[in-house]
Amino acid sequence: MTRETRVQASRRTILKGVAATAVALLPAPFAVGQTARIKLGLMLPYTGTYAALGKNIDEAVRLAVGEQGGKLGGREVEYVVLDDESEPAKGAENANKLVTRDKVDFLIGTVHSGVAMAMVKVATDNDTMLLIPNAGAGAATGAACAPNIFRTSFSNWQPGFAMGKVAAGRGRKRAVAVSWDYAAGHESVDGFKEAFTAGGGKLEKELFLPFPNVEFQPILTEIAALKPELVYVFFAGGGAVKFVKDYAAAGLKASVPLVGAGFLTDGTLEAQGEAAQGLETTLHYADGLDFAKDKAFRAAFRKATGRDADVYAVQGYDTGQLLVAGLAAVKGDVKARTDLVAAMERAEIDSPRGKFTLSKAHNPVQDMYLRKVQGLENKYVSVAVKALADPARGCKMA
Ligand code: BEZ
Repeated sequence: MTRETRVQASRRTILKGVAATAVALLPAPFAVGQTARIKLGLMLPYTGTYAALGKNIDEAVRLAVGEQGGKLGGREVEYVVLDDESEPAKGAENANKLVTRDKVDFLIGTVHSGVAMAMVKVATDNDTMLLIPNAGAGAATGAACAPNIFRTSFSNWQPGFAMGKVAAGRGRKRAVAVSWDYAAGHESVDGFKEAFTAGGGKLEKELFLPFPNVEFQPILTEIAALKPELVYVFFAGGGAVKFVKDYAAAGLKASVPLVGAGFLTDGTLEAQGEAAQGLETTLHYADGLDFAKDKAFRAAFRKATGRDADVYAVQGYDTGQLLVAGLAAVKGDVKARTDLVAAMERAEIDSPRGKFTLSKAHNPVQDMYLRKVQGLENKYVSVAVKALADPARGCKMA
């Protein structure tokens, strides 16, 4: 059995029965110098409402590294995997385990903004490289931005802002927003509000419920009473599935258009079924993009996993691609930090979403697409905002 096969096999075994909290795979002998393995610490949700998101990120990071023969900058790669359970209260302890106990060269994570901000603090305190493959917390590439912190996904503000523009551009005037009561929900709604208000609309009410609560009935009753012209939401994973179904079951879909950040319908369509048909969302990925890279990636991801790719898989793959670019430039020497960071900063990522570069704050500058659900696809409709950069408020590097 090759080392990589062993990694795959043991990871599968572990993740099968997991109530697992922290699982270190391959506490392998770590030789010194250039022949030592590069340790990637994958801190992701493998259980809970965001489990499917974490799994796709994990497998797509490995796909990108696998395409390089399992090496980065000429060095073999070792993975250390930890289930963060999307639990902010355990974020710092978990990240510290990877940094101080496992001595990873790169922290990679996570999905949930609250957990990601705990990782940002640990990465900052220990000067560890951190790559964020999903969580859109504004501060990670805003007030808390740092040379060692990179994000390959989006800021929560970006898709929200794009949908606010689309809605205002259609002449909508009265909206209500719904989300979970944590950073991602608030920032997504703030992005929507900023563009919607600038375009002449009014966000009349913001309704929040605790993460990961899915008791939506009281909120749906309130929406029915308020009768807005549209409802903007941020939900993802299992919560998105439930919200879309409940919204349709409450009879609101026909009378009050439901729009959202694209996480509402990404990776969820099979479970949402008829209830999702026709929904419009904005995101930095869509089905039907005409990029050779996208076609190749989707085929490769399907072959490797037996599943269709979604935005989370794309982000994981691009995290791998950013590592490939950075480590190639320093020939695998993770200690050559200045050159490593410089190479990552100037990388142009040939992403399945379309090529993108990173802003000075280390967040993707990327097109935001308007998509519409058709069957099992979030079909590309148009570019809602071209090359949208997060404002990076409070970032001293920007
Ligand atoms: C977040 O917490 O930032 C987040 C979670 C799931 C999807 C998108 C963003």
